Amino acid sequence: MITKPRGTQDLLPEQTKIWAKVESHIRRICSLYNFKEIRTPMFESSELFHRNQQDSSDMVTKETYDFMDRGNRGMTLRPEGTAPAVRAFIENKMYAERDVNKLFYIGPSFRYERPSLGRYRQFHQFGIEALGSNSPLLDTECIALAVAIIKGFGLSGVKVRLNTLGDEESRSSYKEALVKHFSQYEECMCEDCKNRLKKNPLRILDCKVDRDKDFFKSAPKIGSYLTEQSKKHFDEVVESLKNLGIEYVIDETLVRGLDYYTYTVFEIEADIKDFGSANVICAGGRYNNLVKELGGPDTPAVGLAFGLERLIMALEAEGKLPFVDETTHIYFISLGKEAFKESSRIMNVCRMGGLKCEMDYNQASLKSQFKKADNNKALFTCILGDNELNDFKINIKNNETDEQETISINEVYPYVLNYIRSKTDKCHSCNKGANKDEKSSN
Ligand code: HAM
Repeated sequence: MITKPRGTQDLLPEQTKIWAKVESHIRRICSLYNFKEIRTPMFESSELFHRNQQDSSDMVTKETYDFMDRGNRGMTLRPEGTAPAVRAFIENKMYAERDVNKLFYIGPSFRYERPSLGRYRQFHQFGIEALGSNSPLLDTECIALAVAIIKGFGLSGVKVRLNTLGDEESRSSYKEALVKHFSQYEECMCEDCKNRLKKNPLRILDCKVDRDKDFFKSAPKIGSYLTEQSKKHFDEVVESLKNLGIEYVIDETLVRGLDYYTYTVFEIEADIKDFGSANVICAGGRYNNLVKELGGPDTPAVGLAFGLERLIMALEAEGKLPFVDETTHIYFISLGKEAFKESSRIMNVCRMGGLKCEMDYNQASLKSQFKKADNNKALFTCILGDNELNDFKINIKNNETDEQETISINEVYPYVLNYIRSKTDKCHSCNKGANKDEKSSN
């Protein structure tokens, strides 16, 4: 038997129905915040991700799926969505159309990581990228959108952790201070951190191994090295978060794993026991140099990405998976060859009119067909035998009231439609909200 590659998942219909619902909630919130969808290829020229040798992030150095295509071109399966979105922004000259472009994407990403809880080799990201403004209010808007999505699902205990990496000047004096501090403890540091000390000292702060050691806790904090301008930007982000009533905690050890960040960085964590690092459901920040670095005009930008697997895992753990209405409007039961064909015709008419219908294609026994109608959660069951067909009549059973009638075949569609409408009207008049789907996705 050929099995799926390690670190990947099959999403079966029981799951895809939830995923579709989650994605539609996300799309709705994106539209409220006026972010527009972009779809980029799943693979890109390798140089998009392997830009410079200084980039020390694990994602870029150890985790990409790189391959040569048949034309001998170096290609990489996208490990994230920011660089591809920026590439498309530049290539399509989107900056010429409007000053601020607010984009979102949903799709798979690929990282050759050791699979563990909430960590896959193919996973799905929903991300947003707002390009064209350095306003702190845009940093806040991204965080606000993420919080709106999370709150809409009813997920509780979610924490926004916030930090700033400041501008070039702030980072460079901070890096110097870190090197000075950590050099004293080099012997006690883990092998990765010894490397980071040379290549990118900021990433030491991300270390999970040395995190609890005293020399780690006594490391200098970025706050003391921020330039006036960087401090102002961060203060304004904090102030506007307060203004929007969004709770956050400032975490000066938060540096993020990717090397393109400038100024604001943040992570959003769920609070699910035993999830460990899989609690990080969303992360992002500002990346004011990336567009220029990739050959575009100097364009400040900010964005974030959710890991959809992790978000859905958190929703499941908290019992907050969205409700999916699986009611079938009509299940057709037929007895006899002609009745079978006619049922299929009526069913198609009803489907074209917007009703969800199903029938038994294997023409099992009457008992078994009734059971299938039940399994399909049918609102109505239509029973047609060759005899009724001779009179152009059909039996229709309302499975909510158990009432059964014989009606003309032509009446099936309006009969069911009127019933659904009358129920909807009733629900509206008692103000309970007819559409359960809508309600659950708010
Ligand atoms: P990231 O932190 O690398 O950031 O990934 C964002 C989110 O994707 C993580 O918080 C996590 O939920 C999910 N994720 C990452 N790797 C995996 C994995 N192996 N399995 C499952 N889920 C995973 C970025 O990718 C940036 N591009 C975010 C961004 C957008 N920054 C600015 N704009």
